Amino acid sequence: MTQDIIIDTDPGQDDAVAILLALASPEIRVLGITAVAGNVPLSLTQLNARKICELAGRRDIPVFAGCDRPMRRALVTAEHVHGNSGLDGADLPAPTMPLQDAHAVDFIIDTLRARPAGSVTLCPLGPLTNIATAFARAPDIVGRVQRVVLMGGAYFEVGNITPAAEFNIHVDPEAADMVLRSGAEIVMMPLDVTHQVLTTRARVQALRDIGNRVGQTVAALTGFFERFDRQKYGSDGAPLHDPCVIAWLLAPHLFQGRHVNVEIETTSALTLGMTVADWWGVSARPANALFMGSVDADGFYSLLTERLARL
Ligand code: BDR
Ligand code: CA
Repeated sequence: MTQDIIIDTDPGQDDAVAILLALASPEIRVLGITAVAGNVPLSLTQLNARKICELAGRRDIPVFAGCDRPMRRALVTAEHVHGNSGLDGADLPAPTMPLQDAHAVDFIIDTLRARPAGSVTLCPLGPLTNIATAFARAPDIVGRVQRVVLMGGAYFEVGNITPAAEFNIHVDPEAADMVLRSGAEIVMMPLDVTHQVLTTRARVQALRDIGNRVGQTVAALTGFFERFDRQKYGSDGAPLHDPCVIAWLLAPHLFQGRHVNVEIETTSALTLGMTVADWWGVSARPANALFMGSVDADGFYSLLTERLARL
């Protein structure tokens, strides 16, 4: 059965790969892409989302611009990771497909109200500002969401933008807190998982060897993204964070995790945006998320490579 999803995103090279994986997969129908400020400002994330749709030959996907800053804070961006464009590494042409007139938050609300309850999955790949704003403005939609499958947080891997916090959660911790408390079914792909799916030279070469424009573009994008992580972590390649969300929809057996309580630190200056996951079950707090801990990385890259070859 086809899964209907909305991708909420701040492209971002790894966001781009996630979008391509979704668009390459017949099991998934992308109802729309909602852009949010994150890796780079909104003016670029909405532009990049359209560039990626056009790369996939999918000018029919509606792309919406959403919130241009976190709910209660100034925007923190990550050009040091993604480059000034957000998609440095590949020179994609300016998109000609239009940006939709509606606001992303209205699109999320209207879609969830219009579609059968429990039939639409939200896939946030950036700060949770659009999702939390939609939930706050229209609490009736929370119960209509099939589930929220998001990239964000960390437990054992702790932080990548501060010593204690992962970027997506750190940028808008109040939004993350609202989503985690919403009661929606939540699946989280934290750094604990994404740091296992590294763009080794052999895996990037396999993507390049697909031989189509998408494979070559993805190889170029990951090559840029990687230079930062290779220096930072000393690892063989960069983590391909956001595609884990789409891969879970397609092949959940590749991932393993635990249903645990996850709470967000919203006040401490030192640990702002930390995802306090009760991995060991030491609190009595109820589980509110399926928090992933491991992934079959080779299986993930086989899936990705096979799918991108279809575009
Ligand atoms: C997350 O932050 C961004 O830099 C990536 O696109 C990913 O969504 C990883 O912490
Ligand atoms: Ca992202």
